[in-house]
Amino acid sequence: MTPYIRPQRLRVSAGIRAMVRETQLMPTDFVYPLFVVPGKEIKREIPVLSGQYHVSSDMAVRVAKEVYERGIPAVMVFGLPEYKDDQGSSAWDPNSPVQQAICRIKQELPELVITSDVCLCEYTDHGHCGVFKGQHLDNDGSIEILAKVALSHVEAGADMVAPSDMMDGRVAAIREVLDQSGYSRVSIMSYAAKYASAFYEPFRDAAGCTPQFGDRRSYQMDPANAREALKEVALDIEEGADIVMVKPAMAYMDIIRQVRDSFTVPVAAYNVSGEYAMIKAAAEKGWIDEQRTVLETLTGIKRAGADIIITYHALEAAGWLQL
Ligand code: PBG
Repeated sequence: MTPYIRPQRLRVSAGIRAMVRETQLMPTDFVYPLFVVPGKEIKREIPVLSGQYHVSSDMAVRVAKEVYERGIPAVMVFGLPEYKDDQGSSAWDPNSPVQQAICRIKQELPELVITSDVCLCEYTDHGHCGVFKGQHLDNDGSIEILAKVALSHVEAGADMVAPSDMMDGRVAAIREVLDQSGYSRVSIMSYAAKYASAFYEPFRDAAGCTPQFGDRRSYQMDPANAREALKEVALDIEEGADIVMVKPAMAYMDIIRQVRDSFTVPVAAYNVSGEYAMIKAAAEKGWIDEQRTVLETLTGIKRAGADIIITYHALEAAGWLQL
């Protein structure tokens, strides 16, 4: 029998496909990560993240301008400091590259949203995301320091802080310090469901934050767990998170969907370094079509429920979308 209902009718032309398309990817969906290093006039390609750069704070302004001109609303600033110690004290030094870059970008591009990654792993000599008390991570001591770091980013001009450390209670600690300091209008995007993932490897190389001993499994989440992600997200919202993030994105599409369906706050997904690097490497070998693969991936992340996508592909993808 010939079929009476034919789904293919709605695929016969580009025009009809556009009419029934359910998910529209846009440059306004993206946040672009920036890696800021000490020095001047530096723009050096990061070997493990081809197409991404280490930039000094003056050059960060130039890249930020490009981001803004492409219609991407926000950057996320990461830093490689001049010095490291066991407390990560360069993380709240107003003269560190992150604070300098935030300050300069805000001056030049007041409308670009500056989000900043708040963590200690790039700043501690042991490379962990918190500080130690003897053999163990000192969760409660770490959140006090993280709040101080967040405040220093906000004082430099950040519009939104993004704690990525996964310490318990850090969102509340940051909220309290910001509010006490007159920054009740500054928002928090928490890395709420952040998994202990193998996909962060290129980032750790790029940001110099590989742990010097052990791993992050005692504070980042077990990739096998989904209910626990909902618990983490609920806690962060209770503590005052304005936006919650799921990280990584591609292997965690189910988590993005569950978080989207279970809560009302905006959901961000971090399309992380290893996900970017896999596509880049395969494209460089000529094994896949980069543009189609990237746009399909980002559309998939949005379709899964992400309102915001933090991605190293942002600049290129925004260019492709505007063609
Ligand atoms: C810092 C931090 C990491 C990433 C973002 N912030 C590394 C980690 O937790 O090990 C990963 C980002 C990426 O892989 O693109 N804690």
